Amino acid sequence: MNTNDTPFRILAVCLGNICRSPLAEGLLKRTAAERGLLWEVDSAGTGGYHVGELADPRSRAIAAQYGLDITDQRSRKFSREDFDRFDLILAMDRKNYADLRSLTTKEEHRQKVVLLLDYVSLKEETGPDVFDPYWDDSGFEGVYRLLERAASRVADRVVEQTSK
Ligand code: 4NP
Repeated sequence: MNTNDTPFRILAVCLGNICRSPLAEGLLKRTAAERGLLWEVDSAGTGGYHVGELADPRSRAIAAQYGLDITDQRSRKFSREDFDRFDLILAMDRKNYADLRSLTTKEEHRQKVVLLLDYVSLKEETGPDVFDPYWDDSGFEGVYRLLERAASRVADRVVEQTSK
């Protein structure tokens, strides 16, 4: 648990902010609630194609199947101000990671951006990218399960880092 009253702020980022990062946001929030962690969690997309929209119906459906409600979320585009607002920025794939880092030259900002599956040491097992299921209906369950594992490991790692 954080030792002070300042929340730790985490942003999950994918391309459209309708498929992967809304699931990551929901799972990170649930993980924080289960573990009593003082976190603020949000998500965004590097692209603005779906701004204002609900999460993709397939992401909402798989979340609901596992008892997770993400219907409060609306897609938004990543903004440079997010570099200051958040402590940790989790990129779902290598393209998201490169796009985010290209938006800033400040080392302080760049250090906040991590490739999720690398950050949680799942990369060797799963490959570096959270698969983009937008064009593949069958991909959503695997993405959900992977993000569930990753969220738990994010909690382990953040707790370890913030307790130092
Ligand atoms: P996401 O998936 O990045 O996981 O939200 C996508 C959503 C929309 C598009 C691509 C990927 N698109 O091309 O509109």
